[in-house]
Amino acid sequence: MAHVLVTRRLPGPAVDRLAAAGHTVDVWEDDTPPPPAVLRERAAGADGLLCLLTDRVDRALLDAAPGLRAVATFAVGVDNIDLEAAATRGIPVGNTPDVLTDATADLTWALLLAAARRVVPAAAAAVDGSWRTWDPTGFLGADVHGATLGLVGHGRIGQAVGRRARGFDMTVLHTRETPLDELLAASDFVSLHVPLTDETRHLIDADALRAMKPSAILVNTARGPIVDQTALRTALADGWIAGAALDVTDPEPLPADDPLLTAPNLLVVPHIGSATRTARERMAAMAVDNLLAGLAGEPMPFPV
Ligand code: GLV
Repeated sequence: MAHVLVTRRLPGPAVDRLAAAGHTVDVWEDDTPPPPAVLRERAAGADGLLCLLTDRVDRALLDAAPGLRAVATFAVGVDNIDLEAAATRGIPVGNTPDVLTDATADLTWALLLAAARRVVPAAAAAVDGSWRTWDPTGFLGADVHGATLGLVGHGRIGQAVGRRARGFDMTVLHTRETPLDELLAASDFVSLHVPLTDETRHLIDADALRAMKPSAILVNTARGPIVDQTALRTALADGWIAGAALDVTDPEPLPADDPLLTAPNLLVVPHIGSATRTARERMAAMAVDNLLAGLAGEPMPFPV
C-alpha cells in the first residue's frame, strides 16, 4: 500500500477513494499551500502526490521524494510541474482536461461582458450612493454583439469561448488561422487561451498591447505570466487599450500594493475559471483516478 500526499482539501468524495483503496493519505489541511520546504518535507516519504497549481513540483521536490511513483495535478495547466524532470525519473503525471473547459469558457464570458458593460463599477454605484438618476451618459460601455473576438490559442477552452461568441453574432479570429499581429489589430476583444510555456511568457508585451485597438479589451483566463503586467499597467493608464479583465495574475494573489491594481478599467478576479461545484468535483475525481492508476503501475486515464 502506498503513502499519498494530497496538498489541499478537495471538494466531493473523491479523495476518500484513496484511503478506501488501502493507501495512507496525508492531506494538507491549511487553506493556503504548503511552503516549498514543508512540501519537500511532507513529500519525502510519499509514493503518490496529488498536487495543485499552487505547488511547484520541480527538481528539488522530486529529489526530496525519491519514492514518488505518480503525480496527479488538480488542474489542466501543468506549468508548475517540471515534466522533463518527472519523465527522467519515470514518474507519470496526470491532469484534468475537458471537465473544466466549459466552466472556464463561461467565466471568460463573464469577464468579457462585465468589462465591456462596466458591470463592476456600475454595481458599486448602485450601493454606494453615487447612483443619483438614470443617466444618458452614465457607464457607457462597448457593444459585444457584432464585435470581433480574437482568440489567442484555439485549444479546448479557446474553441469553447469561440462557440459562445456565435450567440453574440461576433466575428471570431484565432491564432491558428490569423497571425497574432493581425488578430491583435483587428479585434475588439482579445482573449488568451494558450498554456504558459517559455514561448508564451510575456507574449502580450508592450508591442502586442500597442498593436491592439485603443477601444479593445483584453481578457486573460489562461496564466498570468502570459501578459507583461508592467506593460499592461501602462497600456491601461495611457489608453493604449480600453480595459482588461484578468482571472489570472503574476503572482497570485497580487500584493495589495501592486501598481497594476491602481490601473483604470481593470477587473481582477482570483483565478476562478474552473470554480463551479461540478467542474471541481470532476477534477478531483480525475486526479484521484490518475493517482490510483499511477500507483498501480497502470497507464493514467488522463496523462499529460
Ligand atoms: C486552472 O487554471 C487549471 O489549469 O486547471
